[in-house]
Amino acid sequence: MSTKNLRHQLLSATKPGRVDLLFDYLRTHGDKHYEEEVTQMQHAVQCAALATRSQQPATLVAAALFHDIGHMLADDPVEANHPTLKDDQHEAIAVAYLKDIFPEAVLQPIRLHVAAKRYMCTLEPEYFDQLSEASQKSFRLQGGPMSEQEIDDFEQHAFHKAAVKLRGWDDQAKDVNIEHLEINAYRSSVLESLC
Ligand SMILES: [Fe+2]
Repeated sequence: MSTKNLRHQLLSATKPGRVDLLFDYLRTHGDKHYEEEVTQMQHAVQCAALATRSQQPATLVAAALFHDIGHMLADDPVEANHPTLKDDQHEAIAVAYLKDIFPEAVLQPIRLHVAAKRYMCTLEPEYFDQLSEASQKSFRLQGGPMSEQEIDDFEQHAFHKAAVKLRGWDDQAKDVNIEHLEINAYRSSVLESLC
């Protein structure tokens, strides 16, 4: 399915149909690695599992599951598959596709998860050291440390704390020793989160 078709189909589908479309899209496009050792699907599901384990609302579980779908939806697969070469703006692409499908409580943590990395790296220099190599490289392309003004702006955002939480799971959800987690375990959270 092309990305344009996906958006069109999402808008015209029922809620259960939207979950099916999104899960099928992740299953079909999530087998790539994007410079991490886990696949995008493993990363997405591990991230949702971490959100669920910390008893977060369904909207944040859904945000965790779909936070990197913009890598798959990016127009240029070369850029999207090598985020350390060029910033693919995947967080903005995801929000553009998922707008009107999910509420702000899902969209905004996704939109802010890259800014949250810059925020954390700026406030806690040791945070940068524990990032994966790919994430350290893309940090520089994504703008590097925040200015004081950028920190203030970020903290003004209603969803900035949710974005920092999502960022924490994002960094952890790269465990090659976790064998298989089933995406269907998150079906009810996604269904509940839809607009
Ligand atoms: Fe991620």
